[in-house]
Amino acid sequence: MCGIIGYVGKAEAAERLIEGLSALEYRGYDSAGISVFTKESKLLTLKAEGRLANVAAKVEACAETRGVHCGIGHTRWATHGAPSDRNSHPHGTELLQLVHNGIIENYADIKEELLNKGKTFLSDTDTEVLAVLLSENYAQMGDKLGAIKKTLSAVTGSYGIAIAFADDSTHLYCARSGSPLIVGVGEGENYVASDITALLRHTRKYYQLREGDIAVVSEDAVVITDKNGDPADLPLETADWDVQAAERGGYPHFMIKEINEESETVKKTLNTRIKNGLPDFEAEGLDINMFKDLERVHIVACGTAMYAGCVGKCRFESYARMPAHVEVASEFRYAPPLFGKGDLVIIISQSGETADSLAALRLAKECGAHTLAIVNVIGSSIAREADNVLYTWAGPEISVCSTKAYTVQAALITLLAAAAGVARGTVTEEEAARIASCLHDELPLAIEKIINNADPIKAAAKALHTTQSMFFIGRGSDTYLASEGSLKLKEITYTHSEAYAAGELKHGTISLIEQGTPVVSIANDPRMYEKMLSNIREVKARGAMIIAVCAKDAEDIIKVADHWLEVPALRSDIAGIAAATSLQLLAYYLADDRGLDVDKPRNLAKSVTVE
Ligand code: AGP
Repeated sequence: MCGIIGYVGKAEAAERLIEGLSALEYRGYDSAGISVFTKESKLLTLKAEGRLANVAAKVEACAETRGVHCGIGHTRWATHGAPSDRNSHPHGTELLQLVHNGIIENYADIKEELLNKGKTFLSDTDTEVLAVLLSENYAQMGDKLGAIKKTLSAVTGSYGIAIAFADDSTHLYCARSGSPLIVGVGEGENYVASDITALLRHTRKYYQLREGDIAVVSEDAVVITDKNGDPADLPLETADWDVQAAERGGYPHFMIKEINEESETVKKTLNTRIKNGLPDFEAEGLDINMFKDLERVHIVACGTAMYAGCVGKCRFESYARMPAHVEVASEFRYAPPLFGKGDLVIIISQSGETADSLAALRLAKECGAHTLAIVNVIGSSIAREADNVLYTWAGPEISVCSTKAYTVQAALITLLAAAAGVARGTVTEEEAARIASCLHDELPLAIEKIINNADPIKAAAKALHTTQSMFFIGRGSDTYLASEGSLKLKEITYTHSEAYAAGELKHGTISLIEQGTPVVSIANDPRMYEKMLSNIREVKARGAMIIAVCAKDAEDIIKVADHWLEVPALRSDIAGIAAATSLQLLAYYLADDRGLDVDKPRNLAKSVTVE
């Protein structure tokens, strides 16, 4: 999604802006731009479609961008209007330049009114409408804050904005509603940014703006007012992410770095939640006894976080013996709300800013349900708004493709389900202790083993080099893992793939299996080995190339397989979490083998803040 950076201070502003935007590249974008005040205090805007390097080259070639100290920058992920130079941000008029994350929903009506008044537009974006409306209000009122408030009260939708007014080269103005925005506080310099990653090289101190806040930022002051115009008393927060954590640390891609961090982050996430060998969430204020009276659990999320929710579903059902429904956030919001007081809605999100997940959380709260967020980014909107939050301690996940976040989400929700089982009397304390120790001790070791013995995975990836279409199959909870593996593969290798419950293939889809069609066959559950073996034989008989993902005791499956990705011996209810690492690596090595942009796959954004 789009990224925002603003700088005011003594350093070279254009350099700081490009550097900040480069740290935000991971969010996904298709064009970029900056506006800076030249030495003559004139606003100069440079923007370009494509990679940030295109804007950086324009900056490099333009002497006017040197010796300047204030400006704003943006990476755009197209929503209104195709990716192009003219649709890139900043947008504005002779009075101001503005960058925007989010969507102005009523932009068409406002644009029509402005066109009727003779205003002109250079782009197809909703953002330019906001900029033109703000310019008109400022021209009439002559008061910057007043004009910002008037403009924002006329728009619907979501925004995080940073504005440079042409007649004031020492201040930046910013505001948020719906899209996250922070103000970074440095030594003799201050920043505006859509997330802390953009600032880590220079400061870890920041204010997280709340809904409706407006901030005025200069080199040595930050003044923030809330939605009522009163001084906003925000805490100055300190990010515990360091630059090292947000950079590649010697790995060729963030994705492989983040996969390598999985075992460590699982331990970190579970460490404080296991006391005397048992799951324990008391320190986080979660009343585990609430599970005693619950009839069901709703788990709501998007993409990979949703598949981690599916792991939770299986474990709530098997450990706590209660129905658990997993719902895609973008659908949950519009379905009849069949939940309310007395229900628990668990929202899972790495970023904590996914628009549909946030809206689902708000709906759940409106309906009176108790909400619990499992979130990675501290202080994110979902974390702040949920009744309870359990943080996953995965650290920054930069690659668009989610890997370590999934692993820790799946491990944490499994531990939570075990705790719920103890509370409901469906799991003994002894069994809960075994689950906790497997998650905390054996799972990280199994993940390390998979990473350290990746040759068979690399070989399977090589065999897929020219593959255009393939299948993932599994049974029980492995069906969900198949979906997650298929999502990883599609996302970064651009290979079409489908995930199926293995027993369902013969009801239609098997017609697509022909000589050489790859079928990744996941078999972590010994109770299902025989059935899986039959399903694998069915596709093998039709020419499929079998990539088996299973433990070494699944001997007959391994015999039939063309490639075997070994899952180290683990309890079958936890083995799937380790097996996910194999599937992540399979996608990674294939994307790398094909020379694709692993960390920034086409059309995708890290944090999906539009609905
Ligand atoms: C996974 O690799 C994705 N890039 C995507 O599906 C992601 O998991 C989804 O957009 C949800 O994001 P969140 O966890 O930040 O809410």
